[in-house]
Amino acid sequence: MKSFPLHVIILAAGQGTRMKSRLPKVLHEVGGRPMLAHVLETAQALLATGRHVVVGHGADEVHGRFFSSTATDRSLHWALQREQKGTGHAVQQAMNAVPEDAQVLVLFGDVPLVQANTIAPLLRHRGLALLTARVPDPAGYGRILRDNDGAVTGIVEERDASAAQQTIDEINTGILCVPARLLRRWLGRLKNRNAKGEYYLTDVVAMAVQDGVGVATHVVQDVEEVMGVNDRAQLARAERLFQRRQADNLMRQGLTLRNPELFELRGSLEFGIDVVIDVGVVIEGKVQLGDGVYIGPYSVIRDSRIGANSRIESHSVLDSAVVGRQCRVGPYARLRPETVLADEVHVGNFVEVKKVTIGRGSKANHLAYLGDGAVGANVNIGAGTIFCNYDGANKHRTVVGDDVFIGSDTQLVAPVTIGEGATIGAGSTITRDVPSGGLSVARAQGQKHYPGWQRPKKKK
Ligand code: UD1
Ligand code: MG
Repeated sequence: MKSFPLHVIILAAGQGTRMKSRLPKVLHEVGGRPMLAHVLETAQALLATGRHVVVGHGADEVHGRFFSSTATDRSLHWALQREQKGTGHAVQQAMNAVPEDAQVLVLFGDVPLVQANTIAPLLRHRGLALLTARVPDPAGYGRILRDNDGAVTGIVEERDASAAQQTIDEINTGILCVPARLLRRWLGRLKNRNAKGEYYLTDVVAMAVQDGVGVATHVVQDVEEVMGVNDRAQLARAERLFQRRQADNLMRQGLTLRNPELFELRGSLEFGIDVVIDVGVVIEGKVQLGDGVYIGPYSVIRDSRIGANSRIESHSVLDSAVVGRQCRVGPYARLRPETVLADEVHVGNFVEVKKVTIGRGSKANHLAYLGDGAVGANVNIGAGTIFCNYDGANKHRTVVGDDVFIGSDTQLVAPVTIGEGATIGAGSTITRDVPSGGLSVARAQGQKHYPGWQRPKKKK
């Protein structure tokens, strides 16, 4: 059998009034990516030769959002529908770039969850193929009309439907597939004599019947897949469905999710064997977790890599960080961009690290800010240590050698270097480089004692 090039037309020109947003509807995100990105991906999964996005409302913004990542993709075409005159009119705007021998599939930019394998059966027909659904509440949808033998005779939109037609529970999902040659002919014959004064794509169904072209229907099993997103409540529902689907996939691949209902992945996750993710974790961007990694409750991990058997304890936030093997991070730790921890590093509660590499076996267990610098191996950084990296205008580096011990509540005023094996006494403000070995102490004044000193009394 000859196969025909598949061209997918994605309708995305509508305003999305009910979103009450400045952002064009198809740019609202599901799973951290615009709805339109999901639909484009589905088209790709179907091995489309051409993908045509029809934009109108917020066209520049929609196009701009995808431009840099798709500039070299010659299979992706953008068509402008200046005025929104209906779904039929929208499809027409894309037809110039669709070859005569193509098979055309129409998808909606605001129906992000539909799966390639749900659509695939439609592509096998050479007539008109519709994806329909049986729903308990058909309100708002176009209804599928059938004759006494069950053959499809047309689609009637809700606003144009008689009371009897409105009781029909088989609805049009909007997804259809048809040879370009037939579609072009029918689009040219569309009229806008209907309740909305629009050129309805759905009118091609009756034309197919008239022309004696077979109309096939596939009833979608999982109705939620074809759910359209029109408002924020439906967007949240789509997000839940997407997250649940994704979580199920990850668990099938061997990931332990303590509570799949309270897990969000907005990006891609690679993981080794026996990885455990506790409740309330959010993963964003591109994240890699080695074997045996544990992520504690309510942590956020973005664009980071975590080595085997490391534990990220609860409420930690990692952004563009690299964590070695057998590290312990948190609870309540924050690793900011360009943090690199070697193996067996401990970063404890209320410790913030930014743009610092920390060597093997070093520890900063409590209440510290380490910004801009390098810490060697087997270093102990006491509670309350601050890398004073900012002079109000510029950032400077702090370099700490191997085997250094930094006492609690120490300020290292950068640029500064602490030599290997040095010890810094607690409460020091270090402003000059410290040589290797020995003890450096820098306190404002010696300790004094005032006997007989009275505490102030509370005023009446
Ligand atoms: C459409 C179908 C209806 C189906 C329903 C499924 C028609 C006439 N009706 O109705 O049978 O049950 O979808 O959700 O096709 N769009 C444009 N340009 C336009 C008009 C719409 O790009 O001029 C886009 C919208 O952005 C949207 C899609 O087409 O992504 C559907 O348009 P919408 O107005 O939501 O159609 P419905 O009335 O829901
Ligand atoms: Mg709609």
